[in-house]
Amino acid sequence: MDKIVALCKRRGFIFQSSEIYGGLNGAWDYGPLGVELKRNLKDYWWRCMTQTRDDIVGFDGSILMNRAVWKASGHEATFSDPMVDCKTCKARFRADQLESSVCGQKPSKSPKTCGGELTEPKTFNLMFKTYVGAIEDESSITYLRPETAQAMFVQFKNVVDVSQKKLPFGIAQIGKAFRNEINPRNFTFRSREFEQMEVEFFVKPGTGPEWLEKWKEERLAWYEAIGIPRAKIHVLTVPDADRAFYSQGTYDLEYEFPFGVQELEGIAHRGNYDLKQHQEHSGKPLEYFDEESKTKYLPEVVEPSAGVDRTVLAVLCEAYAEETIKDEESGKEEVRVVLRFSPRLAPIKAGIFPLLKNKPELVAIAQGVYKTLQPLLKVAYADTAAIGKRYRRMDEIGTPFGITIDFETLEGAKEASTSAIGTPIAVGQKETVTLRHRDSMKQERIAIADLPAYLLAKIS
Ligand code: GAP
Repeated sequence: MDKIVALCKRRGFIFQSSEIYGGLNGAWDYGPLGVELKRNLKDYWWRCMTQTRDDIVGFDGSILMNRAVWKASGHEATFSDPMVDCKTCKARFRADQLESSVCGQKPSKSPKTCGGELTEPKTFNLMFKTYVGAIEDESSITYLRPETAQAMFVQFKNVVDVSQKKLPFGIAQIGKAFRNEINPRNFTFRSREFEQMEVEFFVKPGTGPEWLEKWKEERLAWYEAIGIPRAKIHVLTVPDADRAFYSQGTYDLEYEFPFGVQELEGIAHRGNYDLKQHQEHSGKPLEYFDEESKTKYLPEVVEPSAGVDRTVLAVLCEAYAEETIKDEESGKEEVRVVLRFSPRLAPIKAGIFPLLKNKPELVAIAQGVYKTLQPLLKVAYADTAAIGKRYRRMDEIGTPFGITIDFETLEGAKEASTSAIGTPIAVGQKETVTLRHRDSMKQERIAIADLPAYLLAKIS
């Protein structure tokens, strides 16, 4: 884990928030590569949920909502963790996680073993409270949303009316959520500010259990499609005692992180709890009119709720590898660090390199290739350092393809008697480049003209 955290900082995936001021516990910033990785992940989820299905529509709700929403949903009264304070070191711990908590004393110990005196557990609401408007009093209180879900329940009727969807159908949303976690830890795994990707999938009463099974399979396949093998995902059937009170059945999909097997996503059958609560508290009907049976009812909902940051972390952990290899140029043994991202998630899809920086013909073609690919994909151009070093830098940030413009490219251009210089590059099958594959390090020749179609097929 330490190596992954160090790589994330060194190469610009993830930085500590407010680092120059000593940081802010539980908050993280995504750097230039991290933001691309995270965006690719969210885009792929969005595409799978909304673009390639006819039964889910997209949505983007506000973070601040009327306080009444949080009263109706039960968050104001019950969204809390039990906590204890240590009278000796003054630290605060989750009462249900004492075994794995670390005490603030040096050398640090578990609060169970340090001998400090702990208070009785007290409940602590995890929502961040804030005030709306200029007056800070009881009437202006609201909260930063602790889940994206509630806006989709509250707007259920509006979405049904405009989309004219029939059950079963879903609403999908990606957005920030905030929880004042008592012990943020394990890098981005438990943060105070994070993003969720949630679907509220509304189904006919009585069909919730069967949809819960379908969504479990659907989501397992999705993780495989982003490069997380099925064998590394554990499916936990959450026992009755541990389920949220509204849930009639929950699966947790857990990943084998280096710090233990931990939750990536919860898939819950929430019954009609949420719509019922909002209907009662708002006094506005939220029932669905079923044209087939000519009856009105509140649908049940199945909710696959995934964490963006946790999935990014799982993808990073899964991709990280160290290998002892023979250097492609010197033949010496060395350790190669590589992030084996699936091409669809890789922040940069291809690196484009003129073999030598001081050969204008090579540089001109490389620039032409770069400018041709740039509108289609995220690509990088690099002309400094030996080619082996450039490959290694791209391996370390998970770039799946290296494209090198070399002397064979010039030969081909000469033979075809076309000028491969400039943009767009007018070229046929003779002007080829070296295509290097990150994982196998194998190299092959490919025509410049075939590069766009080849790369687009690999990343889609
Ligand atoms: N709407 C249901 C809901 O919010 P949850 O299990 O509390 O359910 C769903 O959260 C997902 O959100 C989790 O599986 C996790 O991936 C992510 N998540 C929750 N709390 C988080 C935190 N403090 N830091 C990072 N991700 C978190």
